[in-house]
Amino acid sequence: MNTKPAVKRAVAQTSEGSRPADLEFARALLIGLRAPEKSIPCRFLYDARGSELFEDITQLPEYYPTRTETAILEACASEIRDATPAGSLLVEFGSGSSTKTEILLSALDRLSGYVAIDISPSALDEAAKRLSTRFPDLRIFPVVGDFSRPLDFPAQFDAVPRIGFFPGSTIGNLVPEAAVDLLANMGRILGPGSRLIVGADLRKDRDVLLAAYNDAQGVTAAFNLNILARANRDLRAKFDLDQFEHLATYDDDNGRIDMHLVSRADQVATVLGHDIAFEKGERIHTEHSHKYDIAGFQNLAIRAGWTPQRVWSDNAKLFSIHELHRPLAVDRAA
Ligand code: SAH
Ligand code: AVI
Repeated sequence: MNTKPAVKRAVAQTSEGSRPADLEFARALLIGLRAPEKSIPCRFLYDARGSELFEDITQLPEYYPTRTETAILEACASEIRDATPAGSLLVEFGSGSSTKTEILLSALDRLSGYVAIDISPSALDEAAKRLSTRFPDLRIFPVVGDFSRPLDFPAQFDAVPRIGFFPGSTIGNLVPEAAVDLLANMGRILGPGSRLIVGADLRKDRDVLLAAYNDAQGVTAAFNLNILARANRDLRAKFDLDQFEHLATYDDDNGRIDMHLVSRADQVATVLGHDIAFEKGERIHTEHSHKYDIAGFQNLAIRAGWTPQRVWSDNAKLFSIHELHRPLAVDRAA
């Protein structure tokens, strides 16, 4: 089925959605919710409210990734510093609140700047304000945008060594093929000879995983439902939020958590004048969260043109931080 003309027309009709982010969201909603298996891309979870809710998730007792990765980073920051030339440019992908970044910024003195790339303008704004108070000499370059797109730096940074930072296991939110493409794009952005520090959540007992994505306080549920609330707020869509519920499942074959919103009833929602029918029990897929073993993640990195270097982990082997190196020749050969 070709949905393109209807999508264009619907976007043109709305009085809302004149901001580029709204137009992209509108397009993605209409494509994703009119497909036989309904889905919404997970990057739309992060408007201002979504970013706040994600920060709340990071504090939950069940959500082990943030505190575990933070502890690993505190332990390995001096080793990262020792391999980072003075005057390097730090480039972070999906920086959010940049909380973990403070550990690196404290360790890596004499940086020529910090580029923070995130799709959520409010998260970037707040982080830039906080960091400029704590690190008054640091040059901060916030970039609102999608990290899967190309990015050029001003010529003044041409000869500056670059170190990329991609924490949080955000890489796990992409299916493996897309993760390879994203890591390759980061390689092009950072350039030959650069290094990339990536956090990747590890495979583990399914009950630990299921608890982390079905927390007792319902914060993950609120984060998930916010994607429909965002559609109601920004696009004047009509989703009855009480008639959808959060569900996180574990897919052992693919080693991933899947988040869904499940319709509690037969119902019809409206998006930009289009009726979207739901049967009771029907699901909207909203997020994958892949878990890797060390070799599995390194294999992705190699396919994307990176050479794996050191790996740091915690004693319980919950989470891993990978150091990758970009060989001088790889992008020229591609
Ligand atoms: N790095 C932080 C935040 C992780 S949450 C941490 O480790 O805690 C994922 C972050 O990636 C969010 O801030 C979200 O806004 C951002 N994000 C998600 N998809 C993105 C995309 N396609 N391009 C840029 N940023 C994205
Ligand atoms: C940002 N990302 C890696 C989180 C994760 O764990 O997949 C997002 C999240 N979804 C539900 N809880 C947290």
